[in-house]
Amino acid sequence: MYRRSIIITGGAGFIGSHVVRLFVNKYPDYRIINLDKLTYAGNLANLKDIEDKPNYKFVRMDVCDCEGVLDIMKEERVDGIIHLAAETHVDRSIKNPSAFAETNVIGTLSMLQAAKACWESLPDKWEGKRFHHVSTDEVYGALKSDCPEGSPHPDNPGAVAYGTEFFTEDTPYRPHSPYSAAKAASDHFVRAFHDTYGLPTTISNCSNNYGPYQFPEKLIPLCINNIYERRPIPVYGRGLNVRDWLYVGDHADAIDLIFHKGRVGQTYNVGGAGERRNIDLVRMLVEITDRILGRPEGADDDLITFVTDRAGHDDRYAIDSGKLSRELGWKPSVAFGVGLEKTVAWYLGNRDWLDGVTGGEYMNYYAETYTNK
Ligand code: NAD
Ligand code: DAU
Repeated sequence: MYRRSIIITGGAGFIGSHVVRLFVNKYPDYRIINLDKLTYAGNLANLKDIEDKPNYKFVRMDVCDCEGVLDIMKEERVDGIIHLAAETHVDRSIKNPSAFAETNVIGTLSMLQAAKACWESLPDKWEGKRFHHVSTDEVYGALKSDCPEGSPHPDNPGAVAYGTEFFTEDTPYRPHSPYSAAKAASDHFVRAFHDTYGLPTTISNCSNNYGPYQFPEKLIPLCINNIYERRPIPVYGRGLNVRDWLYVGDHADAIDLIFHKGRVGQTYNVGGAGERRNIDLVRMLVEITDRILGRPEGADDDLITFVTDRAGHDDRYAIDSGKLSRELGWKPSVAFGVGLEKTVAWYLGNRDWLDGVTGGEYMNYYAETYTNK
């Protein structure tokens, strides 16, 4: 008999696989059910090391299948949900917004309805239950880069901030891309289920994650793979957009804390205080990758290629994680430079994983996205 039974949706994806691994290993007395549709972004190879653990179970299911989710919740006596499943790539959302409305909005609503139906019929109702929704800083829109040269970061001595403003939990929602619009809508539904029905929810809004097992359509693994293959590195616009990078393991730890100790009905921002302009990040990646591969310094600098900008490209994201740090004692543990070295080494040392996800379909996507850019 397990002490708790938890569904983690999207557990075969990038962040989800780190959360599943953390929970399966840290809580052997919890039953962990990874519920994932296995889209192009889902990959069970991300979980090879824990797939045989007795407290782990994988279920292939679409989060939009409310009845299916409800059946599993009843069968497995689920008392917690950590909801990560989503369509996540901004460029794909610009091409096909409907898929984002379907999974991110309807899928979240379906998970909320299943949780409500299951838990409100129990004698102890919401007692000991938790629905944690994993969201993004992109719902807040974009900040200005009003310190283009970089000024000292208020929360991270030695690091820089490229602007004076930061997203807090009170920043009004102002999503720009179809992806962030769909995530914003999903956050509103989660809050509505708390405020209307009393469903015990929490939400976290996190900045850009990096680390092992990220699908190489996203900037960091895409660059590492292209440098290795000696293909052009596509930098959108002038490369001056700023992202606040957080090592994925630190995000998984934050989710663990908020799921267990976060106040019901609350939102927590999660960020790395690790701002970088894209062009500076890309240059770091070229330097680290070439060094690890033993290529001469500067050998691949000319791969950096400025291409047409992303439509509606958000200028800067930067998170104020003060609430999470004050209330729950969280802070990022992996410095950006250290995390980036580890990450490059992981992708170069796991070519079989990278080869497994960069087959024919990936190259079709790649050609469609970057031809004529
Ligand atoms: P990902 O694209 O790597 O993985 C998404 C996972 O969801 C995949 O395993 C996929 O198969 C699954 N999935 C997609 N549609 C599904 C459906 N209809 N039913 C069931 N499963 C489905 O995503 P990620 O980057 O790991 O992001 C996970 C979550 O974290 C998302 O909700 C995302 O919005 C949020 N987030 C991501 C970042 C980031 O930097 N990657 C930052 C903040 C928040
Ligand atoms: O902020 C959190 C978000 O971070 C998550 O919610 C999203 O799911 C995740 O995909 C990520 O969104 P971004 O759009 O910031 O990530 P991406 O890796 O696609 O791009 C990072 C930056 O790099 C962005 O400014 C666009 C730029 N870029 C991206 C790609 C893929 C390039 O210059 N060239 C590229 O080829």
